[in-house]
Amino acid sequence: MKRVRKAIFPVAGFGTRFLPATKAVPKEMLPVVDRPLIQYAVDEAKAAGIEQMIFVTGRNKGAIEDYFDEAYEIERDLIDKGKRDTLRLLDGTRLPAGGAVFIRQQQMLGLGHAVACARDLIGDEPFAVLLPDELLWNPKSPCLAQMTETYEAKGGNVIAVLEVPADHTHRYGIVDPGTVDGLVTEVKGLVEKPAAGTAPSRLAVIGRYILQPDIFPLLARGERGAGGEIQLTDAMAKLIGQQPFHAQTFTGDRHDCGDKAGFIQANLALALERDDISDSIRAFMKTL
Ligand code: G1P
Repeated sequence: MKRVRKAIFPVAGFGTRFLPATKAVPKEMLPVVDRPLIQYAVDEAKAAGIEQMIFVTGRNKGAIEDYFDEAYEIERDLIDKGKRDTLRLLDGTRLPAGGAVFIRQQQMLGLGHAVACARDLIGDEPFAVLLPDELLWNPKSPCLAQMTETYEAKGGNVIAVLEVPADHTHRYGIVDPGTVDGLVTEVKGLVEKPAAGTAPSRLAVIGRYILQPDIFPLLARGERGAGGEIQLTDAMAKLIGQQPFHAQTFTGDRHDCGDKAGFIQANLALALERDDISDSIRAFMKTL
């Protein structure tokens, strides 16, 4: 079985839900406590053994490239001043030479299209996809690492899922479930954003995927699905039956940072885990 070495981060979106903040700053660079959203996803990928991070970017996303580059002036200054502890805060931003690849999605034609942009960079091997909007928090056992274990046991394709309320299913890719074995559910079907009352379950896709490269020819067909977009979910649905396909129920906290409320909640939840600020945050929240 081929190891999962590469991950795709679709980061071309305009982030309109966060305007005006995202007029000049990529959504993925908005901080949760003190780290930009993209850092959480990259850390999760690293923890699962991913070696190459492929960012599918677009216009006005240059800050992401700068972020994963060396910041010579800052680093020199911190070294000169002997501020080793501060310098260490940049450790997560360092990727090995060749470990960060940037490719542009010229047109916003959907998540499936964004993933398809990385086809030649992936080649003929399994790969991961991480949607950085979804902050999946379990520092001891990160989501992609949970999935990698299942991938190593079952092969094929593995997606992360969580149960959502019935009146939220229309916002997600939803699994038609087969046999359940603990946290691992066989996937019999997938439907993107089912109309209210038509969802086959409440198991929602939460933005983490381990996929086989056989998905690329399916994406290349360019078929439009929900919202007129080229949907990753639709291409995945076509792989079911041809290859093993499993859903891994994530154990940990999910914060939907594509949504303003979810983003603020992520900041509060993660701030409360920080020794240096949790007391003052807690005290302040009590006053509200
Ligand atoms: C995308 C996927 C959807 C998934 C969701 C998770 O939708 O298409 O299947 O459930 O991410 O956040 P989007 O939120 O980009 O509309």
